Amino acid sequence: MLRQVVLYIACSLDGYIAKADGNIDFLNTAELPGEDYGYAAFLSGIDTVIWGRKTFEKVLSFGIALPHADKKLYVVSRTRSGTHEHAEFHADVVELVKKLKQEPGADIYCDGGAEVVAELLRHGLINRIAVSVIPYMLGGGIRLFAENIPEKRLQFKKSIAFPSGVVQLWYDLPQDNQSG
Ligand SMILES: NC(=O)c1ccc[n+]([C@@H]2O[C@H](COP(=O)([O-])OP(=O)(O)OC[C@H]3O[C@@H](n4cnc5c(N)ncnc54)[C@H](OP(=O)(O)O)[C@@H]3O)[C@@H](O)[C@H]2O)c1
Repeated sequence: MLRQVVLYIACSLDGYIAKADGNIDFLNTAELPGEDYGYAAFLSGIDTVIWGRKTFEKVLSFGIALPHADKKLYVVSRTRSGTHEHAEFHADVVELVKKLKQEPGADIYCDGGAEVVAELLRHGLINRIAVSVIPYMLGGGIRLFAENIPEKRLQFKKSIAFPSGVVQLWYDLPQDNQSG
């Protein structure tokens, strides 16, 4: 079986992953000691991570070492190239993901942001979506799912309701013949 591309992401109930200026402080409202929302278990099944360049810049702004040092980390950007710490820039996310899917390996984690998600959905390259819905209304910002992504029926897999009020929704995306 080909490697799966999994979008694992959190959004507000009204569908935003960040404020318009990139602020993601609303995610802190879901932080609970000892609760990782299944993140460590999820990470154990993947060996490759894909970020959009703006998501990468956001992580850099935290002033911490880049996470996922034990995995292959790609940052997609048309304006940057080369490497940064263990991250490698790549100019074409569609070409990158198609290539990765043909190679042996574990599953591929798409962390976002929304621009990268939209591009991969337009090319039928996301196999699974896990959305953690934060009990929060952001009122505006960067929408998780952009306008004009292709219409598609999803296969519901499971939902997990956490004591914090976060609800995690898992769906599979049936693949058509042109995509992977
Ligand atoms: N809530 C969550 O779980 C979550 C998860 C992830 C991110 N976020 C937040 O989302 C925000 C960023 O999201 P975003 O949608 O604005 O940006 P993004 O998707 O992270 O990054 C957009 C950038 O990626 C590059 N890119 C996009 N499409 C490309 C393509 N087809 N080929 C090559 N490069 C491509 C471009 O970089 P260049 O301009 O360099 O060409 C573009 O400017 C941040 O605030 C981040 O913290 C939240």
